[in-house]
Amino acid sequence: MDYTMIQEASNYIKNKVATMPELGLVLGSGLGVLAEEINEPVVIPYNEIPHFPESTVSGHKGQLVIGNLEGKTVLAMQGRFHFYEGYTMQQVTFPIRVMKELGINSIIVTNAAGGINESFQPGDLMIITDHINNMGTSPLIGPNDEAMGARFPDMSTAYDKEYINYAIKTAEMLNINVQRGVYVGNTGPAYETPAEVRMLRIWGGDAVGMSTVPEVMVANHAKMRVLGISCISNMAAGILDQPLTHDEVMETTDKVKQDFLQLVKRIIQSLPMN
Ligand code: HPA
Repeated sequence: MDYTMIQEASNYIKNKVATMPELGLVLGSGLGVLAEEINEPVVIPYNEIPHFPESTVSGHKGQLVIGNLEGKTVLAMQGRFHFYEGYTMQQVTFPIRVMKELGINSIIVTNAAGGINESFQPGDLMIITDHINNMGTSPLIGPNDEAMGARFPDMSTAYDKEYINYAIKTAEMLNINVQRGVYVGNTGPAYETPAEVRMLRIWGGDAVGMSTVPEVMVANHAKMRVLGISCISNMAAGILDQPLTHDEVMETTDKVKQDFLQLVKRIIQSLPMN
């Protein structure tokens, strides 16, 4: 993923918008509705943008929506690229590089995830406090361009502390119950076995999903500030006596949509930017 490709994608987007976005939103499975709230949207399908891969999973639209949301100019990814779709880690994280090139220094990353922590319930929202990369690889492997970030980037505050506290305060203010916890990123596409879920719990995981970790690693490499929010769409395998289905994931995200929308919109209103 060389710098020219990032610039070409970024220039294509720049030429389509009047105001430069300041905040990036990565919208996970079933959570793309947030993009529908954006005012005077400029919509750019991924397949129009130079070097952008195309999104394939159902529940993901595959387009950028840029415009005003709660007083901020945002760039939303309605659908993301997953490693399990067969994209390289560089392709999965390409949009984050493009966001940085556009001048975006803060992102909100969302996903649907299985609850590992037994005090969670399907439908809970979880503010991500940290993550475990269990994907067996990293988007930062390969030659390092020092202009983009450090060879050995610090990950000790991968999720911005001020953003975490602010998100929790905002949820309290709105009377929306939120959990907080550690997100484990697996490759998927199979859901976990019960034994794997027990292992992930011992490791300190609270929720497990198939995304987010690569994007957050690249965002940290690029010195961007990150807020992460998981929608607990189901309890992870083996916790309840029932099989896991993508339909359940979509149904639950559909149910918490209203809380999710209300929370994220209010967060966007006064998220500290720099
Ligand atoms: N496991 C992994 N990814 C997921 C899950 C899960 O239980 N639910 C939604 N995404």
